[in-house]
Amino acid sequence: MGIRCRLGVNVDHVATLRQVRRAMYPDPVEAALLCELAGADQITVHLREDRRHIQDRDVDLLRRVVKTELNLEMAATQEMVGIALKVRPDTVTLVPERRDEITTEGGLDVAQNREPIQRAIRFLKEGGIRTSLFIDPDLDQVRASHKVDAHAIEIHTGRYAESRSFKERTDELAKILDVAKTATKVGMGVAAGHGLHYYNVLPVARIAEIQELNIGHAVVARALMVGFEPAVRDMVQLLREARA
Ligand code: PXP
Repeated sequence: MGIRCRLGVNVDHVATLRQVRRAMYPDPVEAALLCELAGADQITVHLREDRRHIQDRDVDLLRRVVKTELNLEMAATQEMVGIALKVRPDTVTLVPERRDEITTEGGLDVAQNREPIQRAIRFLKEGGIRTSLFIDPDLDQVRASHKVDAHAIEIHTGRYAESRSFKERTDELAKILDVAKTATKVGMGVAAGHGLHYYNVLPVARIAEIQELNIGHAVVARALMVGFEPAVRDMVQLLREARA
């Protein structure tokens, strides 16, 4: 039996539900602790420039209470790098950000934005923080990520998740596999995520080179129905089955 990939649970949408009322609850920090108790290997949050869900207070508290690892998703801006250096998450995943998007819609164009990305990576590395770049399954982006000295990549699985035909899904999976293998060969860590849920995660989780999946919406949505513990356990179980 192979080692299952690690599960990072993204708790942003617990904060989304809180922010629609600007209330004190539900609290993503409480949710994070329940996720860890149920077997999550990492807690992931995206501190957006517009603070639409996760707030600075959430990130500060999470850093103090998370016992697994904290993965902070953020844009490669001076403000965010400053926050990361203060908070010191285990990993920073750099993501592109557009104010009008519903969620992170595409991967980073690393080659086109080389300078700010490289600068952010340099500061983060000096601060002892592991860096990952959220990229589309595209070999040019892997090469560019390697050149800017990132520790890891996170492959954007959104197109795979949204594919409607067998052919499209197979093509997207082939690209994900190719990128995962290439990144591994050059010594980079490999994560994947976006749009993954209980019914589409298995083929991605079977790819041996993928070490970690970050899953948010599907886990939080299931937790709304059955609670965090079964929602996280079910996902961990699927990740185990994928490599059994
Ligand atoms: N990974 C990254 C880099 C993301 O930006 C997101 C969405 O915030 C996720 C994973 C999780 O995506 P989803 O909520 O669709 O599972």
